[in-house]
Amino acid sequence: KYEKVWLIFGIGSLVVFLMVLGFGAFWQGTHPQSHGVTIDPENIEAHEAFQQENLGITQVADDKYIVNIVATAFNYDLGLDEDGAQVRNLRIPKGSTVLFQVTTPDVVHGFNIAGTNVNMMVEPGYISSLETVMDKTGEYTIVCNEYCGLGHHLMFATVEVY
Ligand code: CUA
Repeated sequence: KYEKVWLIFGIGSLVVFLMVLGFGAFWQGTHPQSHGVTIDPENIEAHEAFQQENLGITQVADDKYIVNIVATAFNYDLGLDEDGAQVRNLRIPKGSTVLFQVTTPDVVHGFNIAGTNVNMMVEPGYISSLETVMDKTGEYTIVCNEYCGLGHHLMFATVEVY
């Protein structure tokens, strides 16, 4: 009889434990790191960082860079190069500290620089930001890891750390 009570108690605690764990993961996974920094998704250009001329990479100190990106279905907007073409590749000197700031006007996207610790969810209405040191040379691919529609798999850009 007592064994049954303990069994139920044991299973009960396990369920509660798993629920807490699951909820924690859910909560973390669904809120951008910068949670609290809001932006009007209908008018992201009202925010200086996301005006067309400020998109892409900007050097702010000797070894410090800011990268502003607008994720849309199905593109990462890194601004335009001097020829007016879409920038698809970021070049960053090894050892640089880089602040990534990403937002979106449409739906939830992912922002994952494969092979690095940069992995954010990008939600309309929020600015997702993450500062990191790019200390390994190589070619990295920025991928969207949140399903955002038919062209989801077409969303990518590259980062070259040299
Ligand atoms: Cu954007 Cu998937």
